[in-house]
Amino acid sequence: MKVVLCRDAHEAAALVADEILAALARKPDLVLGLCTGSTPVEVYERLRAARARGAASFARVRTFNLDEYLDLPADHPQSYRHFMRRHLFDGLDVRPEHVHFPPAEGDDLTRRCAAFEETIRAVGGIDLMLLGIGRNGHIGFNEPTSSLASRTRVKTLADRTLEDNARFYGPDEVMPRLAVTMGIGTILDARRVLLQAIGPKKAEAVRSMVEGPVSSVFPASALQLHADVTGYFDPDAASLLAERAYYAKTRVLELELQRAGRL
Ligand code: F6R
Repeated sequence: MKVVLCRDAHEAAALVADEILAALARKPDLVLGLCTGSTPVEVYERLRAARARGAASFARVRTFNLDEYLDLPADHPQSYRHFMRRHLFDGLDVRPEHVHFPPAEGDDLTRRCAAFEETIRAVGGIDLMLLGIGRNGHIGFNEPTSSLASRTRVKTLADRTLEDNARFYGPDEVMPRLAVTMGIGTILDARRVLLQAIGPKKAEAVRSMVEGPVSSVFPASALQLHADVTGYFDPDAASLLAERAYYAKTRVLELELQRAGRL
């Protein structure tokens, strides 16, 4: 896994947004995999700003969100469809029929999850997948012990995830205990993966993901099996990495090769 040690959260967001915009410039019909949560908010702000100043068009882009809570209606303030409209889609020219979420309402979920996977395949697969990471190592809602080959399906949320999400719910509100998420196999099929982690609460998770063993007990470690993943970490999130000096040196040398046009 490539590690980029960023000055701060803003640099991480700027690098990720720039990479998405560069990919979009190369391929106007880019297929994006998207996450929600606090981590990608600034990236989404930057994409909206690029659209507002006319520097990018998303008219041909297709998006596939990673996950959605089971049975939260689309207009519920905690639903991920609501989050994405508010933080990204309302400020872009993306076409509503190009926006996809895993099926999280109604019946026949197993078949509709398979149809969601089929839709991803039918558009040629995900070019760029944007991820955050949970403190327990989840990516999407692939909680610890998720199969490393899993596909889109219903998952039970882990207690740690429920604790982390409790801040978004009022005392009388019922928090969903189930979600529908792309699987780890679905994520690993993306051509390129960008993962951001910000803040001291993510330091243990970042260490296990980058330098720990590959194990379903820590789902994000599965990204070590992907050939093209870059992690963008602020100093707090990177603080427990043992090989920080090596990652910093690698970045400098790689940028030199890039500038020389050799990569
Ligand atoms: C949500 C998702 C989750 C989050 C993770 C981190 O779509 O994929 O795996 O990325 O829970 O959430 P934040 O960014 O709120 O710390």
